[in-house]
Amino acid sequence: MSGGKATASAPANIAFVKYWGARDPARALPLAPSISMTLERCRSRTTVEPLPARAGADEVLLRVAGGELEPAPERFAGRVRRHLDALREWAAGGGGEGAVAGPRFRVATENSFPAAAGLASSASGFAALATAVAAALGRDPLGDPARGGLDRAELSSLARRSGSGSAARSVLGGYVEWPSEAAGGGEDDPRAAALATAADWPLADVIALVEDAPKAVSSLDGHRLAPTSPHFARRLAELPRRLDEVRAAIRARDLERLGPVLEEEAVELHLIAMSSRPPVFYWRPGTLAVLEAVRALRGSGSGLAAWATMDAGANVHVICPTEQAGEIAERLARLPAVRSVIDDRAGDGPALHDEHLI
Ligand code: DP6
Repeated sequence: MSGGKATASAPANIAFVKYWGARDPARALPLAPSISMTLERCRSRTTVEPLPARAGADEVLLRVAGGELEPAPERFAGRVRRHLDALREWAAGGGGEGAVAGPRFRVATENSFPAAAGLASSASGFAALATAVAAALGRDPLGDPARGGLDRAELSSLARRSGSGSAARSVLGGYVEWPSEAAGGGEDDPRAAALATAADWPLADVIALVEDAPKAVSSLDGHRLAPTSPHFARRLAELPRRLDEVRAAIRARDLERLGPVLEEEAVELHLIAMSSRPPVFYWRPGTLAVLEAVRALRGSGSGLAAWATMDAGANVHVICPTEQAGEIAERLARLPAVRSVIDDRAGDGPALHDEHLI
């Protein structure tokens, strides 16, 4: 792979077992493993173009809601520049946590879904950025490692160095555990590995949007606050059993087994957020309306298998078999609390594209 301008897209993911609470939140070193399903349609697409040697700084452009590409807000641009510094250090053979010399980049990015609404746009965004930068530096990020391609666990490590732990999962398709012992890296460089492919278990994620405004408290602050909740220690003690249950459900493709753990996890994430000091409330009245509707769907004798989960936001992800997604989406869209519905499904992870954004 020759390097130069490169474009990659990467999907968001929805956590079945949540990453919430970290040993070092800024470096995304978690206190416990998490397991997610990589999505297909909710994606970030990012082009990176190495700038001439005289360029002093990285340029970051963002397209918001289908508009023109414009200089990104400083908060986002700063995070992208810090991630680029870590990627340059990796390329220079360093550990990847500081700034070193290397090409500056022009970066352009767009999302296929509303950013910062609890839909993990940083997971897809930083997974796409790590993939595109690796390609721009001539390191075939999605190729076969036997033929010089980058090992996927290493790409996961590169995505994590953005500070977004969920980005470490989004570079793999299907059902993903992070950190995974199988992926190596150890405690200070946690990496993800796939438990199963999307084709192994074609589940859908029908996302009921009850709010599209950015969330008030970032996941980073949520991780910092989590240990202040009196429920956090009990959660850590409970997690090994839940992780085992979710791994077993994925192996057996058993939604009736996965579902109750999914809902337990979602409620517990928010229980901990709400009981942190100071407390963090992500739920809106619409969240409860959708949760109630999902329970009613399951119990209606309709034969629908719908189970709810949420990330750090107000929106509800409804996990169900793909063949039921259309009907479930239609029913949820009828609820007054629901502004719109995104019908997504398990997907295969990042991709490279010939068409560039800039
Ligand atoms: C609630 O630190 O990965 O989504 O960088 O904002 O995407 P972002 O968050 P990150 O924490 C993820 C928190 C979570 C649960 C999860 O995805 O595991």
